[in-house]
Amino acid sequence: MKTPSLILMLTAAAAVAILSPGTGYAAVCEDCHKSITPNIVSDWQLSKHGQAGMGCAVCHGEEHNSAATVAKAKIPTPETCATCHDEKVQQYKKGKHAFAWAAMKAMPAMHWQPSVIGDGMKGCGGCHKIGVKTEDEIKGLKANSPGFGVASCDACHTRHTFSKVEAQQPQACQTCHMGFDHPQWEMYSSAKHGVRALLKQNKTLPETTAAPTCQTCHMQEGNHEVRTAWGFLAVRLPMPEDLSWANDRKVILQALGVLDPAGNPTGRLDIVKGAQVARLTQEDWQKERDKMSSTCQKCHAPAFIKGEMQKGDQMIKEADHMMAEAINIVAGLYKDGFIAQPKEYSYPFPDLLTFHTASTPIETKLFDMFLEHRNRAFQGTFHASPDYAWWYGFSAMQRDLTDIKHMAAELRKDGKPQAAKKK
Ligand code: HEC
Ligand code: HEC
Ligand code: HEC
Ligand code: HEC
Ligand code: HEC
Ligand code: HEC
Ligand code: HEC
Ligand code: HEC
Repeated sequence: MKTPSLILMLTAAAAVAILSPGTGYAAVCEDCHKSITPNIVSDWQLSKHGQAGMGCAVCHGEEHNSAATVAKAKIPTPETCATCHDEKVQQYKKGKHAFAWAAMKAMPAMHWQPSVIGDGMKGCGGCHKIGVKTEDEIKGLKANSPGFGVASCDACHTRHTFSKVEAQQPQACQTCHMGFDHPQWEMYSSAKHGVRALLKQNKTLPETTAAPTCQTCHMQEGNHEVRTAWGFLAVRLPMPEDLSWANDRKVILQALGVLDPAGNPTGRLDIVKGAQVARLTQEDWQKERDKMSSTCQKCHAPAFIKGEMQKGDQMIKEADHMMAEAINIVAGLYKDGFIAQPKEYSYPFPDLLTFHTASTPIETKLFDMFLEHRNRAFQGTFHASPDYAWWYGFSAMQRDLTDIKHMAAELRKDGKPQAAKKK
């Protein structure tokens, strides 16, 4: 059953004994909140929930019902929505969005950021709050702050309208899928796909014009499980058959700390597996690729799409080659003692997961080359954006590499080799 029947939902709601206006609860909340938070009430009235007579207490419980009992108000999680929308919640839980909080927490760089950035949701956490939080994490958030940001489902259909139409617009993804290392909004909205979709939105083009949104390609049939073949960092296992590419990718995996300098898996591989950062088998990768290609074929010829997808893969291979050269240059500086290895590092190799916190300009340059420019090169190719693929992507990588070579030569010329002593 795709959409649960209204009757079923109302039964679920009645089970929490708040629905019928006769119980008074909906009216109690609404009446007082009309003066406390008037626009929450008017948005709720616009929502399908309000229209179905589903009161505030269905999501917030009935224990808080006066100004003195505010602390008892429940803050909903996806489980609250699952009472009536179990199918969507299960799909979401299988997809990448559900891992967002765990993936953020797993980053070594998180420990060095002010807590307002993560748990306070004013940086990393502002986007990664879309992920599922454990019971303990929710308790912790509540203990250290007012405890909001645990709903996840309001990421695309915002409270309290919870509108399907809003979630279907590409702007629903914009807040998070933008900027430094994943500018999908900028790429898409300026590529022909987005241009046509936005011209449809402002009614310049007729409603029936073919124009894909983010959701057309990434939430096929309204499925809430999101996942792509290559993913965020475009690394996957097993290694490619192409030997030169396999060597380059090995160096990247070493700089991500997933393989040690000898090429053996480290403890970080378990984290990668746990947060599903990379597709680990050819089958998992191919499944996503086929799903995507069949979506493109609603508007394009199969041969056109095969070619376009291969160009995306090709761009990753080219970018990996430049990246490996740059990583090896910096690794050589650690090895020969021209830059000191931070004491947290266990290997004489750059650690890209320390993000911008690396301590020399050449290491920061390497980080920008990897996370900003390599990502833009392949993500721009897949999103049909010539400018991101080239000027903000591949061209920027070439400039980074020149800088890195120059900086390394200077360090070798000027710097006295430092004793193997760690910083
Ligand atoms: C007599 C007035 C009154 C009534 C009745 C009332 N509220 Fe509130 N509610 C408040 C006030 C005041 C706040 C706190 C606003 C603030 O300062 O942040 C609040 C806050 C909230 C919050 C935010 C909780 C938090 O942790 O800050 C929720 C959710 C909420 N109310 C839902 C409800 C629901 C559901 C009902 C009905 C079961 C209800 N309210 C009934 C006055 C009321
Ligand atoms: C007690 C049952 C119940 C709960 C709990 C519930 N909903 Fe709903 N929801 C409904 C009903 C009923 C509708 C209207 C269905 C319809 O008209 O087809 C609806 C519709 C929706 C829609 C579609 C709106 C549209 O514009 O068509 C969205 C999105 C939605 N709910 C999200 C949520 C989220 C997110 C949560 C949790 C924060 C939630 N719901 C909790 C019963 C519930
Ligand atoms: C379908 C579920 C649902 C219903 C019904 C609902 N809320 Fe909420 N409410 C939420 C969600 C989700 C959040 C965000 C929680 C978070 O940040 O993790 C929220 C947050 C809030 C907050 C605190 C955040 C803020 O923006 O100030 C208040 C206050 C609130 N709701 C009041 C109400 C009132 C009053 C009603 C009824 C008119 C109501 N809610 C009905 C789901 C619901
Ligand atoms: C990444 C954005 C996104 C998130 C996060 C999200 N949704 Fe949706 N939701 C959508 C889109 C897009 C649609 C419209 C799908 C379609 O076109 O059929 C939708 C539709 C819905 C509908 C209406 C289904 C129908 O066919 O009428 C419900 C109910 C719903 N979502 C519930 C949820 C719940 C519960 C969560 C939290 C687990 C959630 N959504 C999280 C994007 C999102
Ligand atoms: C609140 C922020 C937020 C919003 C809104 C949001 N996303 Fe995401 N999205 C994320 C985060 C964070 C991740 C990374 C999660 C992870 O992999 O751990 C992600 C991951 C993804 C992925 C998986 C990429 C991969 O690794 O394979 C896809 C696809 C995706 N989002 C599409 C969308 C689409 C489409 C929308 C709009 C309908 C959307 N997202 C809305 C934050 C968001
Ligand atoms: C025409 C289809 C299409 C549209 C529209 C589209 N994407 Fe993509 N997206 C792709 C393809 C193709 C890939 C690469 C898939 C692969 O790995 O094989 C991708 C990859 C992604 C990824 C993973 C990292 C990356 O960029 O390679 C995310 C996240 C993502 N898209 C989000 C979005 C968001 C958000 C929007 C809207 C602003 C959007 N996409 C619009 C087709 C599309
Ligand atoms: C503007 C929103 C935003 C901010 C801020 C942000 N992220 Fe992300 N993050 C995303 C999105 C969206 C994705 C998925 C992008 C893609 O797949 O192309 C992502 C992906 C990731 C991933 C990869 C997950 C995976 O499985 O592939 C990690 C890890 C991560 N972010 C950690 C962080 C950390 C740590 C910070 C802060 C230092 C941070 N992010 C800041 C939105 C954000
Ligand atoms: C809903 C229809 C639709 C879908 C789905 C779609 N496209 Fe497009 N695409 C278009 C239209 C229309 C254009 C503009 C054609 C033009 O410029 O004449 C376009 C343009 C392009 C372009 C720019 C090059 C050119 O020929 O102008 C590329 C590359 C592209 N699409 C690739 C893809 C890929 C890859 C997918 C799947 C991931 C995809 N498209 C999915 C409709 C679609």
